[in-house]
Amino acid sequence: MLIEADSWARPRAGRRPALGRSFRAVTALLLVLSCLAVPARADVTTIATYDFASGAQGWGPRGDGVVLDTSAGNLRVSGRTQTWMGAQITPPFEKGVTYNVTAKVSGSVALTVERTPAGGSTTWERVGAATSAPGEFTELSGSYSYSADSALNLYFESSDATAEFTVDDIVVTSDSDPTQSGLSTDFETGTAQGWNPRGGATLTASGAAAHAGSYGLAVANRQASWDGPSLNVLGKLAKGSKYTLSVWVRSAEAQSLGLSIERRQNGTPSYERVVAPVSVTGWTRLSGTYTPAHDVDFLSVYVESSEGVLPFELDDFTLEYVEPKPIQTDIPSLKDTVPFTLGAAFHRGATLGEHAKLINKHYGSVTPGNALKWDATEPVEGQFTFGEGDALVDFATDNGLEFRGHTLVWHSQTPAWVFEGATKEVLLQRVENHIRAVMGRYKGRIGTWDVVNEVIDENQPDGLRRSPWFEITGLDYIRTAFRVAREVDPAATLVFNDYNTEFPRKREAMYKVVKQLLDEGVPIDAVGHQLHVNIEQPPAYHIEDSIERFATLDVEQQVTELDVSVYTDFVSTYATVPDEVLARQGHRYKEIFDVFRRQAAELTSVTVWGVADDETWLSTFPITRVNAPLPFDDELQAKPAFWGVADPSKLPASRLALVVPAGTVTVDGRRDEQWDRQADQPVARSGPVSASFQLRKAPSGVYVFADVTDPTDDRTDSLSLKAGSATYKIQRGAPHAQGFKAHTRKTATGWQAEALLPSGSAATLDLTVDDASTGPDAAWSGALTFVPEVKELTAPKETPVVDGVAEAVWNKATPVETGTWIQGTSGATAKVRALWSPSGVLYVLAKVTDPVLSEESPNAWEEDSVEIFVDPGNNKTKGYDDDDGQYRISFTGAESIGGTFDAFAIRGNLTSAVSRTSNGYIVEAAIKLPTVTLSRDRVLGFDVQINDATGTARTAAVTWHDPTGQSYLSTARWGVLRLGK
Ligand code: XIL
Repeated sequence: MLIEADSWARPRAGRRPALGRSFRAVTALLLVLSCLAVPARADVTTIATYDFASGAQGWGPRGDGVVLDTSAGNLRVSGRTQTWMGAQITPPFEKGVTYNVTAKVSGSVALTVERTPAGGSTTWERVGAATSAPGEFTELSGSYSYSADSALNLYFESSDATAEFTVDDIVVTSDSDPTQSGLSTDFETGTAQGWNPRGGATLTASGAAAHAGSYGLAVANRQASWDGPSLNVLGKLAKGSKYTLSVWVRSAEAQSLGLSIERRQNGTPSYERVVAPVSVTGWTRLSGTYTPAHDVDFLSVYVESSEGVLPFELDDFTLEYVEPKPIQTDIPSLKDTVPFTLGAAFHRGATLGEHAKLINKHYGSVTPGNALKWDATEPVEGQFTFGEGDALVDFATDNGLEFRGHTLVWHSQTPAWVFEGATKEVLLQRVENHIRAVMGRYKGRIGTWDVVNEVIDENQPDGLRRSPWFEITGLDYIRTAFRVAREVDPAATLVFNDYNTEFPRKREAMYKVVKQLLDEGVPIDAVGHQLHVNIEQPPAYHIEDSIERFATLDVEQQVTELDVSVYTDFVSTYATVPDEVLARQGHRYKEIFDVFRRQAAELTSVTVWGVADDETWLSTFPITRVNAPLPFDDELQAKPAFWGVADPSKLPASRLALVVPAGTVTVDGRRDEQWDRQADQPVARSGPVSASFQLRKAPSGVYVFADVTDPTDDRTDSLSLKAGSATYKIQRGAPHAQGFKAHTRKTATGWQAEALLPSGSAATLDLTVDDASTGPDAAWSGALTFVPEVKELTAPKETPVVDGVAEAVWNKATPVETGTWIQGTSGATAKVRALWSPSGVLYVLAKVTDPVLSEESPNAWEEDSVEIFVDPGNNKTKGYDDDDGQYRISFTGAESIGGTFDAFAIRGNLTSAVSRTSNGYIVEAAIKLPTVTLSRDRVLGFDVQINDATGTARTAAVTWHDPTGQSYLSTARWGVLRLGK
């Protein structure tokens, strides 16, 4: 059997040359792409050819005394004494596939399959027969298929027991491509069906191991975590094609099992995860996709554990080819719709097939997702590995794409050796060596480098992350990195890259550091905004504010890693992302790209972190879940997110949602305290005009408060509010005689309006900010959800001692009581008081009534405990900002803290003390709030929740205000705390 040993796929009839480095110019590539528009799939696949130009090519004699001679370039069979004697081979046939065989034969020749089904008796099945004229050749042809697992033997024989015959040019074809026909093993034959141990494990087909049917595979006596069953799948996967792999596993004792791939080329193994280990006891399906991206000469799939050598069972493995959808050719090229370079992060698999076409159609720049990070390029000191990097840079060069190098210095994905035993001098030398080697290799081919990544920590007084880099060298690693980078490639654009740069605190911390370094003369050319955002947060104007802020430094700006998660927290998961969420995401892309387009003079490039939703880091970060953060879906088709960038007129309609609490205000154009309880809803900016607003529900309609940013002062500027079907117009500088109360006043940046709209219970609102002189108008459109008034608690300015004792100073605080049941209708409750100190601390005292106490559950929220929620900015966001916190203290004083996924910014904020009372316990807590300045009348988002446990379960839970039961996920419905005198 002749197959290309160094490629994934067996040769295919009619296959066109693969796209690749032979096509140097984009124009050439486009030409090829357009001719590929003709269906590229061949109907017939050549499975094997045998021309005997180089020996017997795997054929052997069948029967004693038979002699095979290939000296004449064909297969001459002699020495036969029985009809069934001849030449034989194990054919490359799979069950369920129909094969066509043709051969040139001389003599009277038949082709037969000897088939022995597992556990059954042997049958002989004729494929074809032919008799030639003496000394001539004729064609023998036939087809063959079988359906039950069997051992096969394919052989030429003759009805004449002693005649010699000759065979040549055997061609086996099939209607199905082996790299597309998939594979399954169910062990129903009572055998291991090709699975083998990787080490000393024993594999036994066994009835006790069956997931379905009568047999499964028991795996025992494992010698190492990687010693599990493996299956050779070489030849079954084509490079650049996508496959779904699935297997059922079970383990008597809990362990984490995963599915991996081992591939080798010229003896060098590499390992890839298809399914990361998950905890397994009862039957669990491990299922994932894999797109091979490398040439291989060995390929196997195997099950391994994260640690240990416990036995497990496995059954019903399937490998399925995923038919690629061709990319859409009738949509705009995204890169042509924006006034800056548009890029995508990619990896090796995306350089092939439809992914490569998608990149070439829509993106003008690429960034490697991992291939140029330190762990990939210098895993061992001085030993550089550039295989992946080279492949990606070659792809970019061949396709005329710009390339962003990512990243030279980072605290993550950096091997431990870099910091081991490092003095400052040694570490600076290591970074210099690294940059010289990596940047040097691609000098002139990589135009932009993220020189340092994520070095800012806005929670430190100096704004610098406490990484080993910083601990060992201070700021010098940054100085050295930029200096060396400039020396290595003076033409390269050197970027200072970070995430969360759109948030005001991080923005300012980074601004200060970059400014200082620029003032020193450190060669920073550009600031990179990663921009990993979500469907709700942060507001687009934060992004714009950051770009405008950095524009005051003389640096270029780039958006380096944009993606838009469909989640606002790190707990939720969708089975499938709903259409309305994708529509909303489309509008979110639009508002973000509106910012980019407006700021195009500052932005040289925008890169999205991934090519399409089939491959995104957000499917495993911060937890494993389906995510869809990019402009193209799993099948590389345009999503609403694409249209949000390319042509927003094609976006599906989507209404925003606005929470409208009950409340009464005085309509006088002044901002009542009531308005501070909720956060202002931004209206996306249009031109220089933008606004933010709030509503309160009154019995007859809604109160409105709006703050308009409008640089031109014109008496006919107005706000139009369409509530239900009625439109109310509030005009700047005009009396309001339209039957409703309204007031306007001038502000430093525009004007403010307050009104009471007699809109009854209308629950939709379309708000338009009409600017008389400029336009286009800024608008917001959404659905209103009416909720009870936002409660307010006042904290006097006093400082208690945190010791679990309610000393006299607490009596200055008026208590509130919990009474909003989120689980059950009765149980533990608390009286809660708060105090604050101008040193930046909030104090909370909760006297809990709960006579029966339990800490038996392993989950902190199912133990008797008090939770204090604080949102220093009172931003009322879906999800948590990084300074929002859930501070939990159990009745024994055990503390646990929730915030954004790693609670990075708040984990040091809490101090607490607990004491027991006759009918419960007292929690006294001090919570530092370093991200805001505490002063009188500041309003914080605030709530308290009491968890009531009975044994190992939580049997009731009550809050002071938030009725949703979602306080731990979202700050949107918390009450507020006002700092008093
Ligand atoms: C991510 C990659 O996408 C993942 O494949 C990898 O496992 C972890 O790193 N900020 C960065 C990027 O600067 O390098 C990160 O990339 C995403 C966050």
